[in-house]
Amino acid sequence: MADTLFDELGGMPCLERVHKIFYDKLLDHPWLKGFFEGQDRWVLESQQSDFMSVLFGGPKIYGGRMPKYAHIHLFVTEEVFLLRHELLGQSLTEVGILPDLKERWLKYDMGMKKALVKDSISECAGRFKSEAVVVVEKPV
Ligand code: HEM
Repeated sequence: MADTLFDELGGMPCLERVHKIFYDKLLDHPWLKGFFEGQDRWVLESQQSDFMSVLFGGPKIYGGRMPKYAHIHLFVTEEVFLLRHELLGQSLTEVGILPDLKERWLKYDMGMKKALVKDSISECAGRFKSEAVVVVEKPV
């Protein structure tokens, strides 16, 4: 049987290396960092690695919500989504992921766009009763 993308990338150590650089960028970004306020970085990174592992054919260890519901409280516009996608691309290049594998990774990431992007704040809702919707204004 052919190797999975997970194996071709070099397994979990590769996903962890990418996500470390990726979250450095996300948490440093003047706009995107606002979405992650108060979140535990280690949890964000490991959830991301566990989730991508499933998509890439690796171990099914992810135990969180599915992306649409994990992000339903976040007002993620197309611009926000594409900015994040761009930072992921830069992270993959910096880690030295081969162009073919980078392209395949980014395709999976882009596959989440429809589930996450909202046109209006009215499409957002708290994931539990008292949870606030998160809207982060674009810095001027
Ligand atoms: C391909 C796109 C994305 C994927 C695959 C992804 C994946 C994930 C996963 C797996 C979690 C953990 C969910 C859980 O524990 O139930 C998470 C949480 C989170 N994501 Fe994303 N994410 C994506 C895009 C975004 C975007 C565009 C933003 C905003 C800029 C964002 C912000 C967050 C935040 C703030 C959390 C923590 C939510 C919380 O537990 O309160 N994500 N993401």
